[in-house]
Amino acid sequence: MSFHLKGLCLTSLLAFMPLTYAGFSSSSSSNVAVYWGQNSYGQGTGSLAQQRLSYYCANTAIDIIPLAFLTTIVDPSANFANAGDNCTAVSGSNLFSCPQLEEDIATCQTTYGKSILLSVGGATYTEGGFTSSDAAVAAASNIWDIFGPSTSSNVTRPFGTSVIDGFDFDFESSVQNMVPFANQLRSLMTASSSSTGKQYILTAAPQCPYPDAADGSMLAGAVSFDAIFVQFYNNYCGVQSYTVGSSTQNNFNFATWDNWAKTISLNPDVKILLGIPGNTGAGAGYESGTTLAAVVAYAKSFSSFGGVMIWDMSQVYSNTGFLDGVTSDLSAPASTTVGTTLTTSTTKLMTTATTTTGSATPTNTSLVSEWNQCGGQGWTGGTQCVVPYVCTAQSIWYSMCE
Ligand SMILES: *[C@@H]1O[C@H](CO)[C@@H](O)[C@H](O)[C@H]1NC(C)=O
Ligand SMILES: *[C@@H]1O[C@H](CO)[C@@H](O)[C@H](O)[C@H]1NC(C)=O
Ligand SMILES: *[C@@H]1O[C@H](CO)[C@@H](O)[C@H](O)[C@H]1NC(C)=O
Repeated sequence: MSFHLKGLCLTSLLAFMPLTYAGFSSSSSSNVAVYWGQNSYGQGTGSLAQQRLSYYCANTAIDIIPLAFLTTIVDPSANFANAGDNCTAVSGSNLFSCPQLEEDIATCQTTYGKSILLSVGGATYTEGGFTSSDAAVAAASNIWDIFGPSTSSNVTRPFGTSVIDGFDFDFESSVQNMVPFANQLRSLMTASSSSTGKQYILTAAPQCPYPDAADGSMLAGAVSFDAIFVQFYNNYCGVQSYTVGSSTQNNFNFATWDNWAKTISLNPDVKILLGIPGNTGAGAGYESGTTLAAVVAYAKSFSSFGGVMIWDMSQVYSNTGFLDGVTSDLSAPASTTVGTTLTTSTTKLMTTATTTTGSATPTNTSLVSEWNQCGGQGWTGGTQCVVPYVCTAQSIWYSMCE
């Protein structure tokens, strides 16, 4: 009997476990978000065509799936490429009814513990936001009725009884009155969380040039985001610009975004995910292998680093081994970039080396403050500097945070 009781406890415990150990975690530096819904690899049929959502949710390497996209907001409509074939039209609405997505969202959340977001915008979004702050607030309440835990029977709910875990903003052109829109969604999510206990998250996907042209007003300390998925692709500041082994990056600007997180973001604990293309054709600046590993190790040395975002699912699944590579890059230690510029009156000596601490010896993770030792031969103390200082070698015997 007691054995049965134990078994019962374990079963009920396991039933709840995915909710706490998969999905977005604000304390994790290895979240993986992969966009689904645009079938960007472009296959109409076969195993590399975009499959139904639940197929991908079984993948334990993925934590967050933003559904792309809600393409219009004022008169809401969505586009999920070939997944739309499994939806049916609803008269009087531009939204479809998607029972398979309703089922899959629930499966992804309860069986696999994924965070399922609805991404708003995309490259084809042309509404330009809202004509007024009031219009923005009304639109947010309507979107919440449609995708949140509404009991209103007067809206078309594409996902039926399923409730998403939050919203992602992916605006790529100029938008007006987005701050009141975002803040209304945020306050509706907060109110719902406090009555139901369900956590919601709000994310945005700015492009890497800082400040982001489209999402800039929201990111200027006006909206509290849980995470941002910075698109480090299609731009000069993308991962392809990372200079391996250098503590000073000229174009690749993760440091700028880390500084944004700490000094401007309304939520100082916001996580920054390194947004990358999932395959050569997914975006300009595709990187993989040891180069990507080096970028991830470098980004991981910033405390705001929250993991990796990938565009998009169909590209990742057509790129064998890529996701495994990302998983292993994320489990590797952060790099201690020891970039040195030793200048004397007669010589300028540049030594740069990226030392990735092997897994055999545990890394001393205590943070070192300014002007204190962070490295050198035989050093066993902390090797990571308190932000924004950089561990700089003065000699092979002594490195200091400056
Ligand atoms: C559409 O539904 C079919 C039949 O259930 C399923 O096999 C397919 O994966 C679905 N496609 C998408 C893109 O959701
Ligand atoms: C449902 O929504 C429509 C359009 O917004 C509105 O005209 C109608 O009064 C609403 N019906 C109910 C029962 O709330
Ligand atoms: C880590 O380094 C700090 C000083 O930087 C030191 O006080 C601490 O003992 C070290 N911890 C280990 C496990 O070596």
